[in-house]
Amino acid sequence: MTGIVVLVSGSGTNLQALIDATADPAYGVRILGVGADRAGITGLHRAGAAGIPTFVCRVEDYPTRAQWDAALAERIGDHDPAFVVSAGFMKLLGPEVLGRYTVLNTHPALLPAFPGAHAVRDALAAGAEVTGCTVHVVDAGVDTGPVLAQVSVPILPGDTEDTLHERIKAVEHPLLVQVVGRAAREGITVIDGKASIP
Ligand code: GRF
Repeated sequence: MTGIVVLVSGSGTNLQALIDATADPAYGVRILGVGADRAGITGLHRAGAAGIPTFVCRVEDYPTRAQWDAALAERIGDHDPAFVVSAGFMKLLGPEVLGRYTVLNTHPALLPAFPGAHAVRDALAAGAEVTGCTVHVVDAGVDTGPVLAQVSVPILPGDTEDTLHERIKAVEHPLLVQVVGRAAREGITVIDGKASIP
């Protein structure tokens, strides 16, 4: 069984998909802890309901971003995970966390298109006909790390940010579950900026 820590900032539907997948022992993943950058979010309630330990590490509680980064690395380290999953975690991770852990992130666009915090809105505003979701390894940039898997989603006439994001999430959840499971069972290799799962 491979232990992971999941980081969330909001509704935690991706976290819920992972929690549901771990009900099957053959999935090979145990969520050791769920961390957030804010309190009171649905993602933390989902973890609590599943009996998973939670922690909150807020940027505003530390004098500097670097100290927050170090504290977050410590809190993650308390659970000694094999790797970390950023599932809708809306803060850029710093060198302490990234130096200690391989972090997988799920992003609601076909990277390198539409990086950043408003990927769904940006795809609509650009008039794109297709967008999607990407699971990638986090590096020091903003959604620039090596891609592990992607699925495309058509943008339909009349789509709003909400309707499009819901359709993206419908494919994002199984993609994240699949990639995290494979990474846990088979391992992830990152060499020269290229990521692969054997
Ligand atoms: C996901 O679409 C994720 O890719 C993006 O924010 C959303 C988080 O959704 N960064 P949830 O909290 O998992 O419901």
